[in-house]
Amino acid sequence: MKKDLLHLGELKKEELIYFIERALELKERFKKGIIDRPFISKTMALIFDKASTRTRVSFEVAFAQLGGHPMFLSSGATQMSRSEPVKDTARVLERYCDILVIRTYAQELVEDFAKYSKIPVINALTDLYHPCQILSDLMTVAEHKGGINNLSNLKYAWVGDGNNVANSWINAAKVLGFELSLAIPENYDPDKEVLEKALETNKNIKIFRDPKEAVKDADIIYTDVWASMGQEAEQKEREKVFKNFFVDSALLSHAAKDCCVMHCLPAHRGEEISDEVMEGSQSIIFDEAENKLHMHKALLDIFITNNIK
Ligand code: CP
Ligand code: NVA
Repeated sequence: MKKDLLHLGELKKEELIYFIERALELKERFKKGIIDRPFISKTMALIFDKASTRTRVSFEVAFAQLGGHPMFLSSGATQMSRSEPVKDTARVLERYCDILVIRTYAQELVEDFAKYSKIPVINALTDLYHPCQILSDLMTVAEHKGGINNLSNLKYAWVGDGNNVANSWINAAKVLGFELSLAIPENYDPDKEVLEKALETNKNIKIFRDPKEAVKDADIIYTDVWASMGQEAEQKEREKVFKNFFVDSALLSHAAKDCCVMHCLPAHRGEEISDEVMEGSQSIIFDEAENKLHMHKALLDIFITNNIK
């Protein structure tokens, strides 16, 4: 049966760990100069309705490095922009392509693609989730904080909006059982259903209104933009609401001494994070960005062939 990656909450712990193990293995092979080309004569379609630098480029480069042909389909470039239904588009694309990677607004759209096509579908960000991001983030944490086996023992702190990336962190906390403290202003909480579902199995997911409380003794501090794609009109209002949800060196002083700072990027320096922290020795932000290439290779390999040895 074909597999999709729609959100992390649907994964078993061993599946999530396997993705990270494979990504670390493929990164090592790449660094050694080993060339793997399992996707000769295969095609990946990327359907993107929102902007992207990292996710798009890393998926395209990953597929090309593995010997395949990546095909980018921007919003407006297909007949979907002229109301062709998903169930028709999905059943056509499956006849040409081997995998679909989709970035869009509604989670339902990605789920419909998965429902109607016989090829794997990967969620490359929706308004609700960003699962691929958190997979490469966890891979990065494993590299910097004692390996895969230590992932569940760390304390993670989120500072900022209860957005798609926050929801995916909550899903990861559900699957791996780690402590997650989220500092989020009132009225900007994460998705209620996602949080309630995660709390059924992990009571160590907590919401705070004061960032200092959330980051106390944290091993990882994570932040993201205050206004996500699609919320541009709220930017000014959000700047007022979020002004204390700022990751700077003063906030870092409340976390564990060797705490690492993460951001999915793109960042607004001077808004959610200071330039000093982004460029500082505790920042692992650019390693995170790099690991998207290796994680995406692992996902593509697992979902299409799983035959890189
Ligand atoms: N982090 C991330 O998904 O970046 P892009 O929006 O550039 O893909
Ligand atoms: N929360 C951000 C993440 C960008 C990678 C957004 O959705 O715009």
